[in-house]
Amino acid sequence: MVGILGGGQLARMLAEAATPLGVHVRVLAAPGDEGAREVVPDTVVGDPLDPDDVARFEAGVDVLTIDHENVDHETLASLEAAGSAVRPGVGTLRFSDKAHQRRAFASGGIPVPEFVVVDPVASVPGAQEVAVAFASGSGPEVVAKASRGGYDGRAVWMLGADQVGPFVAAYEGSPLVFEPKLDLRCELAVLVARNPSGEVRTWPVLETVQVDGMCDEVVFPAPVEDHVAQRAREIASDVAELTGAVGVLAVELFVLGDDEVLVNEIAPRVHNSGHLTIEGSSTSQFEQHLRAILDWPLGPTGMSSPAVAMSNVVGSGEIDPRTRQALALAGVPEAHVHLYGKAPRDRRKVGHVTVLGDERGSTRQRAAMAAELLSGDRVR
Ligand SMILES: Nc1ncnc2c1ncn2[C@@H]1O[C@H](COP(=O)(O)OP(=O)(O)OP(=O)(O)O)[C@@H](O)[C@H]1O
Ligand SMILES: [Mg+2]
Repeated sequence: MVGILGGGQLARMLAEAATPLGVHVRVLAAPGDEGAREVVPDTVVGDPLDPDDVARFEAGVDVLTIDHENVDHETLASLEAAGSAVRPGVGTLRFSDKAHQRRAFASGGIPVPEFVVVDPVASVPGAQEVAVAFASGSGPEVVAKASRGGYDGRAVWMLGADQVGPFVAAYEGSPLVFEPKLDLRCELAVLVARNPSGEVRTWPVLETVQVDGMCDEVVFPAPVEDHVAQRAREIASDVAELTGAVGVLAVELFVLGDDEVLVNEIAPRVHNSGHLTIEGSSTSQFEQHLRAILDWPLGPTGMSSPAVAMSNVVGSGEIDPRTRQALALAGVPEAHVHLYGKAPRDRRKVGHVTVLGDERGSTRQRAAMAAELLSGDRVR
């Protein structure tokens, strides 16, 4: 039995992939979690951050995995030390801290942007001076990122050099990673899976398109030359080895004008950028994650169509996509609609649509059209 900490859409889609494999899934969901409960009968309500809830939950499952990284590392570390199968392991989960990630990657030879970490809250003097000095050598704008707790661009700030001092002075939160605002040719994602036996597989490189710091679209093939794609996949394999990942891990990459490839960040789990593998690849990221954490052989990762595109369905607050499936399917009959059972709120991902086609541009348009029909008149 596989236990999942957290009951969002990733748990929901993992459970959907578990059914044909005959794998029983149990979920530990917080009272507010909406995604998994609808499709996982064996849902236990509790707090993935509460040591007692997590220990009790773990006692009933064979392998423990996660829906999100907001879990209690200390409890998981003691379960792991006692011999439980926690996958990914705590050592890998710690990479969800952007400061730890950057330092470990830089010293492990993984290419990352220049950066500095400052901790405005700790009583270490000089945080402001360090950040201002870094910014003054980094061009007109820098990017500040909270090391923990951010997602969908919610803890990422683009700052002019003169804003850095006041920003750090007023900031209260986890340590900040500062990096130059880079001129991006495009952004890529590589999904990679690794099992405890050491088998590693990457999927073909995908392009991700962000709007206001949030992933909006994912497109295959990515608009990069073969050598760039090859380099991105090599980096992703290196990241899987360096982090000791077990399961699926997502690597977000920046491509610069001179074709340099840098790791932006990673997520030690299945990821939004891999949703199109459900219909678009021989093995979906969700099936592969289950196979990896169970130490089963991994599946082939080739794409099943010349072009595949995914568009997120983002809540606007007024319109419920769960009343608009027929409308969307009338407009785009080939669309694969995935709604997560979540109430729509502003900027909340409540579903996604995948379209398979023959050519990148039109396939992307069809997916975007279906997502717009579902979410209403959102501004892209
Ligand atoms: N140094 C940078 N230069 C230019 N753009 C950047 C930089 N850092 C981040 N961005 C933009 O902001 C987006 C969000 O940044 P990042 O991935 O660090 O945030 P996040 O909130 O953790 O994202 P996620 O939604 O993937 O969890 C990036 O995908 C990119 O579009
Ligand atoms: Mg990101």
